[in-house]
Amino acid sequence: MNKIAIIGAGRVGESTAQFLATRDLSREVVLSDIREGAAEGAALDIQESASLFGFDTRLSGDSNNKIIEDAEIIIVTAGIPRKPGMTRADVMETNVNVLDSIIDDVLKYAPDSMLLLVSNPVDTLTYHALQRTGWDRSRVIGQAGVLDSSRMAAFVALETGLSAKDVNAMVMGGHGDVMVPMTRFTTISGIGIEHFLPPEKIEEIIQRTRVGGAEILKLRGTSSAYDAPAAAVAEMVEAIAYDRKSVLPTVAYLDGEYGQKDITIGVPAVLGEKGMERVIELKLNEEELGYFNTSVDSIRQELVTLSEITSKA
Ligand code: 2OP
Repeated sequence: MNKIAIIGAGRVGESTAQFLATRDLSREVVLSDIREGAAEGAALDIQESASLFGFDTRLSGDSNNKIIEDAEIIIVTAGIPRKPGMTRADVMETNVNVLDSIIDDVLKYAPDSMLLLVSNPVDTLTYHALQRTGWDRSRVIGQAGVLDSSRMAAFVALETGLSAKDVNAMVMGGHGDVMVPMTRFTTISGIGIEHFLPPEKIEEIIQRTRVGGAEILKLRGTSSAYDAPAAAVAEMVEAIAYDRKSVLPTVAYLDGEYGQKDITIGVPAVLGEKGMERVIELKLNEEELGYFNTSVDSIRQELVTLSEITSKA
């Protein structure tokens, strides 16, 4: 790839730039942030690590979104983060307004790009970006499930004492307390986790995964998670940049899959050079479908709030 842009040089944006550069996924990574100097400073700081990490990516930053011109992927991390006690939906109104002006600039400077949403509430903001751009669903996706799955995998590795590298976890549904950790599709080197862990431990892992973001926020007090979220974004970008056809949980628009239409939610999908190339429709059992539908209901409620916000504007 030639150019990847990150809008928002807060902690997630900055960590994302570092991981993208370290993986040498594109010739250029640009950051933009309305705070004067923030993006430029972040870019330079990361650039100065190039000889240590051995990457050739060139980084730059600006407070003007013109810097995103002709980028192939645009990662949106801008917006206000959650403060302790806030839900992701609480931050929706502010972040919808922030997103609107970003999308105007994306349409102006990089009309052929792909959008990868990271800011919360990610499912709903992805839906909004899709509507506002009018682009095909393959080009507007969100990150949530790769992070949630990685959290679950970490907890499985810690609990079993086995290598995290061998754990393959899968979390579907909305990014929130109603996410759907899929134990049936979570394995250690292909072996189901129920072989290694008793049901009550698996249940504990599921609960911890569901509140994984809140756990970090509570510990840090003033900041949400950013290292694991940024690594998750880099994983998705790598799949697209290298046309890997990776199967990754992705916030994608459903057009009949899982019996749902006109909603964006986390589902396994194939990521490659065209973006979200295909939704993988799993046969869910009754229990899984119950959880998934609860997740769908909660996102549909957020979409009602979204339409109230957009009709005000
Ligand atoms: C998280 O789950 C902030 O949504 C983000 O950590």
